[in-house]
Amino acid sequence: MGVLSSSRRALWHCAFPLLLLVVCSTAYSQLSDDTLRSLPKPGSDFDIHEGKILSPILQTRVPGTPGSTAVLNHFASFFRTALPDWTLEFQNSTARTPVSGDKEVPFVNFIAYRDPPWAAQGDSGRLTLVAHYDSKLQPEGFIGAIDSAAPCAMIMHAMRSIDSALTAKWNEIDAQGHAGLDIDENTGIQVLFLDGEEAFKDWTATDSLYGSRSLAEHWEQAYYPAMSPFRTQLSSITLFVLLDLLGSKSPTIRSYFPTTHWAYQNMARLETRLRELRQFKSAPDNGEGGGGCTIQDDHLPFLRRGVEVLHLIDFHTGKGFPDVWHTMDDDAEHLDIPTVEDWATLVTAFAAEWMDLEGYFQPAPSAAAALYSRKTEL
Ligand SMILES: *[C@@H]1O[C@H](CO)[C@@H](O)[C@H](O)[C@H]1NC(C)=O
Ligand SMILES: [Zn+2]
Repeated sequence: MGVLSSSRRALWHCAFPLLLLVVCSTAYSQLSDDTLRSLPKPGSDFDIHEGKILSPILQTRVPGTPGSTAVLNHFASFFRTALPDWTLEFQNSTARTPVSGDKEVPFVNFIAYRDPPWAAQGDSGRLTLVAHYDSKLQPEGFIGAIDSAAPCAMIMHAMRSIDSALTAKWNEIDAQGHAGLDIDENTGIQVLFLDGEEAFKDWTATDSLYGSRSLAEHWEQAYYPAMSPFRTQLSSITLFVLLDLLGSKSPTIRSYFPTTHWAYQNMARLETRLRELRQFKSAPDNGEGGGGCTIQDDHLPFLRRGVEVLHLIDFHTGKGFPDVWHTMDDDAEHLDIPTVEDWATLVTAFAAEWMDLEGYFQPAPSAAAALYSRKTEL
């Protein structure tokens, strides 16, 4: 990677002086080097044949087909088994598509979230990590490994990697009593795997984004109890981090929105630090950075309703999307696994820092050994 550029930093700081104040007032602690080194490693999660997380997603997942149901079941069983403290929901809708005639196609959005145990409905703003899980109808047999099987798997890995630290932190706060807690301490976390992102025929406003359009509309009307800090399920999304077309070598990720440029910079800083600490497997690359056009994707129905978005999509002004995009080559074999694993680690670090988890991770074996030897010297 080497892809998140902060070349526009000066410009944004001049243009949005107030943003800096906001950033300072909601500052959380940066993760230490030891914590970055001790983040759980990808292991075999991303093995394309046997990987427990990624390989079950590498099949066709056209909405309303058995492949789609199988992948949904994989998500649900992963969360129920590895993340039992999370709440699972499905948000269902149907729509006609240009190829379905009078037939309604079912779309199922997968939602999983975890809030602090003491938080009541509407108390928690949620960091929200998003990818679409459907695959394109055409070309027949299209897998969509970067689009977006691998991004779903990265998010699953990241959530499992931070879950026990989250438990440790929340248990500690719970034990100390939580009267007078700052609203930031109620921050929860949420995963959306959206259905029906792809067009069935040609991309238009109505033939695309079926799942995200339905969910944004539904959540805008999903009110929490009166007087809650957050009014609706939509407004409780404090940051919508959308991963798409990730898993090819040497990605270019741009910053698209001034109001979330600071989150982009946090991600860029973690990327640099993880690479310096030799926690990355891929070779560095010089990204182009910069802001620019908006790409049509699942964030649009949310963005239009005022949700803050960080769009992590591999797009280069000169080259466009990755070479395999929307071709039969977007399959398991064309994934660049070191890059996939680095993304998973970066998303883990970003979520851990956002959830303020410094101090709640188990030290890595080598770090633990170093700690032990220091202790024995004393
Ligand atoms: C939504 O669809 C899923 C998957 O088909 C199903 O398990 C679930 O019961 C449905 N939920 C509702 C509320 O209909
Ligand atoms: Zn696509």
